Amino acid sequence: MAREINSVGVVGLGTMGAGIVEVFARNGIDVVAVEVTEAALERGRAHLTGSTERAVARGKLSEADRDALLGRVTFAVGLPSLSEVDMVIEAVPEHLDLKQSIFAELDKVCKPEAILATNTSSLSVTEISVATTRPNQVIGIHFFNPAPVMKLVEVIKTVVTAPEVVEDVEALGSRLGKVDVTINDRAGFIANALLFGYLNHAVTMFEAHYVSREDIDAAMKLGCGLPMGPLALMDLIGLDTAYEILDTMYRRGGRDRRHAPAPLLKQMVTAGLLGRKSGRGFYTYESAGSPVVVGDELTPAASTAAVSVAKIKKVGVVGSGVMAAGIIEVFAKGGYEVVSVTRGAERSGRLCESVKNSMNKAVIRGKITEQERDSTLSRVSWSTVLDHLADVDLVVEAVVEELSVKTALFATLDEICKSGAILATTTSSLPVIECAMATGRPADVVGLHFFNPAPIMNLVEVVHTIRTADETTAAAAAVVASLGKHPVVCADRAGFVVNALLFPYLNDAVRMVEANYANADDIDYAMKLGCGYPMGPFELLDVVGLDVALAIQRELYLEMREPGFAPAPLLEQLVTAGYLGKKVGRGFRDYRS
Ligand SMILES: NC(=O)c1ccc[n+]([C@@H]2O[C@H](COP(=O)([O-])OP(=O)(O)OC[C@H]3O[C@@H](n4cnc5c(N)ncnc54)[C@H](O)[C@@H]3O)[C@@H](O)[C@H]2O)c1
Repeated sequence: MAREINSVGVVGLGTMGAGIVEVFARNGIDVVAVEVTEAALERGRAHLTGSTERAVARGKLSEADRDALLGRVTFAVGLPSLSEVDMVIEAVPEHLDLKQSIFAELDKVCKPEAILATNTSSLSVTEISVATTRPNQVIGIHFFNPAPVMKLVEVIKTVVTAPEVVEDVEALGSRLGKVDVTINDRAGFIANALLFGYLNHAVTMFEAHYVSREDIDAAMKLGCGLPMGPLALMDLIGLDTAYEILDTMYRRGGRDRRHAPAPLLKQMVTAGLLGRKSGRGFYTYESAGSPVVVGDELTPAASTAAVSVAKIKKVGVVGSGVMAAGIIEVFAKGGYEVVSVTRGAERSGRLCESVKNSMNKAVIRGKITEQERDSTLSRVSWSTVLDHLADVDLVVEAVVEELSVKTALFATLDEICKSGAILATTTSSLPVIECAMATGRPADVVGLHFFNPAPIMNLVEVVHTIRTADETTAAAAAVVASLGKHPVVCADRAGFVVNALLFPYLNDAVRMVEANYANADDIDYAMKLGCGYPMGPFELLDVVGLDVALAIQRELYLEMREPGFAPAPLLEQLVTAGYLGKKVGRGFRDYRS
């Protein structure tokens, strides 16, 4: 039977430590909270009182419970006050030397049977453990930020951690209401190993002025349903901590260039821009420690959308697939007159049916009235002749994802469409510039990357090439905004924003399974419960289709030539074996029974 842990010490009351103190005290465990100076102790105390105060204000904690919680916490400077606790959790900055010296001292002051745990995100628990004379009682307990909210803890056992200690800590995890995954000691464990390559990539995109900070964050929230965008998350984690984690992962994790911290990070840390905790990071906050973002010199000016959208009234949509149907519906609902063009009457008939079906469903769900449906449909004309696009103001091309087909279509559109019309492609992986250069008017060509299902997904990536005129990009973004959707403007690079950030992460998850570090269930848990993702990577891969994921990953790899982007061999094998995901009944999981 696991031994019961009734008192713990927490060393370091920063972003994580203060939250960890709250988790224990909330669950009836006495805590000795330790800092290095009186001033730091006060900050830690203020963090805890502030957080519990907010919980009371939100009705999540009664005043009596708050008082009992605070009554369980003793604050002290220095480690000697930890002589009587059953377990210590260390949460000081991510430096190996510092952690080792603290563990050496803890080994001296703590009772012989006390468990010594580190909350490190990336350092070797084994290396920390050997600074003590009891490495078998040293373990990693990796909480997620904010600790009182996130359900996951990663329990990291080293090759010498005693099995009883692992059991004790697992039992403690469930007592705290957490879900644990127990894993071996590897840089970044599960969640950070998958998260930090993505976060660093997002910083690189921002640093290269590829896309604005607001647009990166909006893209990942709206395109993937993530609770926060990557730059806002960096600010929450703390840029100094994020820098150290990346640096350690780079050195411990096989020198993957994707973990080499973006130069901007180091500059920001040196300049004291540490994120929320210092009041400024990628965003500016009301005050140090505040979650409230305030405007600064990078905040975009209010949009001038109304001006540029006025001249666009009639929209052509070419194609007869799922995306074309969704896009027709979206534009017609947005009040635009729509000309749909397909390659034959039968296709047009099916397309019209599918738009009608989708709108009927919306009526049944009470989202629109029958009149709205009828007036929307009356704005669409169904044609099989491209010449009918002669007088449209905007054409959205949504034909098959094949470059030769798209360039031929753009050449034809160039001949047919009136001068000044915007020509847009919905491609998700081909270079927009190829479509632009098939026309004599590359300044008028943009990408409009809608997400599936278009009527539901609120994100549209507006892709400008090096030849797109600024007015064209602005007009396209304004049209998107007029549809009630969120335009994210980015340059013409493989995967644009969302796919470029999403698919390498999915590919890394496949590599992790391939390396037998963790199984698909644990990884899905880790990302959902540790990072608040709506789906784990394997759930998502099975929905997206493994063939689709492989094709996108290949494009990214071919364009960037980044070794870390090479498709995971296991992904290739599953596709070859025909395990393409839910659509065929089997992918990473079997859906047939
Ligand atoms: N920030 C996150 O999102 C996150 C998430 C999970 C784990 N972690 C890990 O938690 C640990 C702490 O990170 P953080 O973000 O809370 O850092 P932080 O900089 O916010 O806080 C560290 C605290 O440790 C204190 N400290 C420094 N030296 C000390 C000493 N000798 N004795 C006692 N206290 C000392 C500092 O005064 C500071 O308050 C790191 O190992 C980090 O990798 C961080």
